[in-house]
Amino acid sequence: MDTTILGIESSCDDTSASVIRNGVMLSNVIASQAVHEAFGGVVPELASRAHQQNIIPVVSEALKRAGVDKSELSAVAFTRGPGLMGSLLVGTSFAKGFSAALNIPMIEVNHLQAHVLAHFIKENEVDKDQPSFPFLCLLVSGGNSQIIKVNSYKDMEVIGQTIDDAAGEAFDKCAKVMGLPYPGGPVIDRLAKDGNPDAFRFNKPHIPGYNYSFSGLKTSFLYLLRDSLKKNDRFIEENKTDLCASLQRTIVEILMDKLRKAAKDLGIKEVAVAGGVSANSAVRKAFEDHAVKYGWKIHVPKFSFTTDNAAMVAITGYYKYLDKDFCSMDTAPFARVEL
Ligand code: KG4
Repeated sequence: MDTTILGIESSCDDTSASVIRNGVMLSNVIASQAVHEAFGGVVPELASRAHQQNIIPVVSEALKRAGVDKSELSAVAFTRGPGLMGSLLVGTSFAKGFSAALNIPMIEVNHLQAHVLAHFIKENEVDKDQPSFPFLCLLVSGGNSQIIKVNSYKDMEVIGQTIDDAAGEAFDKCAKVMGLPYPGGPVIDRLAKDGNPDAFRFNKPHIPGYNYSFSGLKTSFLYLLRDSLKKNDRFIEENKTDLCASLQRTIVEILMDKLRKAAKDLGIKEVAVAGGVSANSAVRKAFEDHAVKYGWKIHVPKFSFTTDNAAMVAITGYYKYLDKDFCSMDTAPFARVEL
């Protein structure tokens, strides 16, 4: 019998719904929220209102594109957390209503686990390039920077994580002080293509183990701008591409240094990357270089699966469904939840 899962993602500022049948993606609809651009960051209240407006049309569209009637659904999976409480509440409440109305089970999904399992979304029956266990996953987004040892679909160990800012936050905050629009990561990536990555040097953290820190880099970047602007008030304009390229190089080096150390220490050569920052061209290039130099088998997601999407929620829901890992109607969202 077919297993058909509807996935719902509403943890931050993207409303998304996806239908996955027997592990194969049939649809993945994402409505992004442009309303936040003017504010230089996501405004939680506006995000939850937009989710409320978007959720029904997005789910209808996902079912329509999949060619699936709601009576064919086996279960509804939704992001329980981490994320913005008001945003999570919309997806969670919708999933509850849907599950009750259709009398189908409900599956709670951890957003971080979903980012990792995005590597198992099949886009067609013959799509085979999936990681084998155990593998390491560098999860880098606006809110997280973690190295995860993935032992199975369910068993994941965080072996390193940021002690302050996330990598995406470092991109976004440094972009903000340069006067670039939000989110700054993709803008820095674009500008960096025309810059010299050796033009400026920034401090790299010296912390033990596989943990990350990006707050020192942010401060060092800020001080360079402050001191240079005193001498030349056109410093940012004149050096924008070099600043972006040098910053990006440093962030990628910090990420890869620890990941390489973890891979070496654990003797794991199967390495994946996930989360919004995995869209970054220098991160992707670094993975390709490591594959050649260290014999890694790498897994880099398609761009559409790097940022928040419901296909990753649906695939996680699919594996949980096979284990009959359902949740009850009293499940409430969690703004903060560990992997
Ligand atoms: O995973 P994600 O979509 O959202 C969550 O944090 O859950 O990640 C968003 C982050 C933002 O910080 C954004 O600037 C960053 O991913 N990002 C990038 C790129 N595309 C998105 N950072 C660097 N280079 C990119 N090309």
